[in-house]
Amino acid sequence: MPERNILTYPDPTLRKKCDPVEEIDDDLIQLLDDMADTMYQAPGIGLAAPQVGVTKRVLVADIKPRERVEGTEEDEEILLPPDRSELIELINPEIVFSDGEIVGEEGCLSIPGFVSDVKRKYEVTVEGYNRDGALVEIKCEDLLARVFQHEIDHLDGILFIDRLGRLKRELLKKKIEKALGKEEKQAVL
Ligand code: NI
Repeated sequence: MPERNILTYPDPTLRKKCDPVEEIDDDLIQLLDDMADTMYQAPGIGLAAPQVGVTKRVLVADIKPRERVEGTEEDEEILLPPDRSELIELINPEIVFSDGEIVGEEGCLSIPGFVSDVKRKYEVTVEGYNRDGALVEIKCEDLLARVFQHEIDHLDGILFIDRLGRLKRELLKKKIEKALGKEEKQAVL
């Protein structure tokens, strides 16, 4: 199944507020399929539609650890294909309840190579629709709660670097811009 290209910071699409989905049609089903493929391939544990250039309120998530097996060569590990048993797809997701706080390390497929501690709510209840149009409610905590908060932020054009304190944010932005500058120079050469 096709994977889609993941947009990276500072692509302006990542800053757009996404529109609610009004109809679950073939294009949307294809988008969900492609987003899951793209997330697993990356590999990542969550992906929001704007990261693949679609400004609609859609996310996928799967925090189930992927099974690793030893490869044929020494120190080689092979990541088995995900079984998708814990894949979550949400259309028009909303956080309807949240409680507590926790600081944890966070990264983003759209800001590859950078992580930072981010304060999030510890516990959330998320409501949204599945691909069949049924309303689903998910109560969760810790990592999955963090993923939902991170991905729903994406739907509002917010990146994890925006959630840092001012000093930390400026420092990380400088590092990212420096890395991007280097990449551009290499591309020219
Ligand atoms: Ni992200």
